Amino acid sequence: MRLVFATNNLNKLKEVQEMLSDQIELLSLKDIGCSEEIEETATTLEGNAKLKADYITEHYGYDCFADDTGLEVDSLLGAPGVYSARYGGEPRSADKNIEKLLTEIEDKEDRSAQFRTIITLNLDDKSYDFEGICKGLILKKRSGSKGFGYDPVFQPEGYSLSFAEMSSDEKNSISHRGIAIQKLVQFLNNID
Ligand code: IMP
Repeated sequence: MRLVFATNNLNKLKEVQEMLSDQIELLSLKDIGCSEEIEETATTLEGNAKLKADYITEHYGYDCFADDTGLEVDSLLGAPGVYSARYGGEPRSADKNIEKLLTEIEDKEDRSAQFRTIITLNLDDKSYDFEGICKGLILKKRSGSKGFGYDPVFQPEGYSLSFAEMSSDEKNSISHRGIAIQKLVQFLNNID
């Protein structure tokens, strides 16, 4: 089976391919000649994941899956959520996003938050959603230099390290994206 992962991130693609059985060949957007920017215009993670997967299925005719992730902070009523990538304004930068987040929750007692990933899979004219959640806390200041995005200020529940202080293997084994990918892979590997 050939399946498109609607991403240009080859590291993400490789990671998922390594978890899949040999029966499933993953293709990137580049592999199918898709170079256009798919605008993420929806107001939910579910909406954006579906929009990207549907774009590929409708324009290129492939079965496909796409992901979208957001950081949901309880005391900010779920913000930045679907707007996580551009929270600090344009041009986008992880540093500006973190700066704004730390300012917004400066006075809040409750620093609990979660990363949430949605993967939408279009397969044989049906659509499936897989969700991965990683709960934790927003730290008062940055700690660690690995990873990306909000990793230096996110400490997962049950750990005393930030995501940015963990190896990628350790992070992937507990992360929102890792959990959603495991659910997707289990589903795909069980198809006859
Ligand atoms: P995307 O949907 O994977 O592109 O994620 C959207 C945004 O959420 C990214 O630009 C990051 O700001 C943030 N984000 C997603 N996943 C992570 C993560 O694992 N660590 C830190 N930030 C993340």
